[in-house]
Amino acid sequence: MKKAYNIIFLLTLTLLVLFLFSSCSNNEEGKPGYEFMPDMYRSPSLEIYSSNSFFNDSLNARKPVVGTIPRGFIPFEYENTLDDYLLAGVELENPLNYNEENTEKGKQLYQMFCAHCHGKNGDGKGSITHPVYGAIPSYSDDVMIRRTGENMRDLSAGNIYHAIYYGLNAMGPHNTLVNDKERWLITMYVQELQKGN
Ligand code: HEC
Repeated sequence: MKKAYNIIFLLTLTLLVLFLFSSCSNNEEGKPGYEFMPDMYRSPSLEIYSSNSFFNDSLNARKPVVGTIPRGFIPFEYENTLDDYLLAGVELENPLNYNEENTEKGKQLYQMFCAHCHGKNGDGKGSITHPVYGAIPSYSDDVMIRRTGENMRDLSAGNIYHAIYYGLNAMGPHNTLVNDKERWLITMYVQELQKGN
């Protein structure tokens, strides 16, 4: 009886060892022999820039859905055209409250981004004296007729915002230099300067 048990034990042990050895292999480097659960070794994830693509268009990195905008980004729906400049002048209102705190913040931004051309007081006499910037208008100017057909003093918040966003001739666009809120803060301060105080 005991002998029979021993034989069964030996047989089981042999089978177990054979079973375990079946996962070993000594040929071809990197090939681990039989894999019992290949999913655990080989991730089904795709390499973003690899050319063997899962998708028909050979792009593993998918493009965002049309119309997607980055979080926190506020699109500006007016184009850089005269029509849209005029439209912005009529339609847009400053979403921020006109108060001392915001005007002060606008002043600080103005001094960083605009004063070297437009002058500290908005009189057009900044420290940049190159002839290219010779015709910088004063914000409180009654003389220089602008695109609106009015003069500088009468430009609305929307006109100023559009001008900051896209620039005009020698004035470069500021849409990437200051964000939406900062543009409105600056606009607020420029409106203060338009009063010519
Ligand atoms: C590099 C110099 C320069 C800088 C910096 C600059 N501007 Fe100007 N800006 C000009 C010039 C030059 C004009 C006149 C453009 C023209 O009429 O051809 C102008 C015109 C304007 C106008 C009138 C636009 C119109 O519609 O007629 C506004 C408003 C204005 N700037 C605001 C700003 C504000 C606000 C900033 C700062 C965010 C700023 N600018 C920065 C040079 C500059």
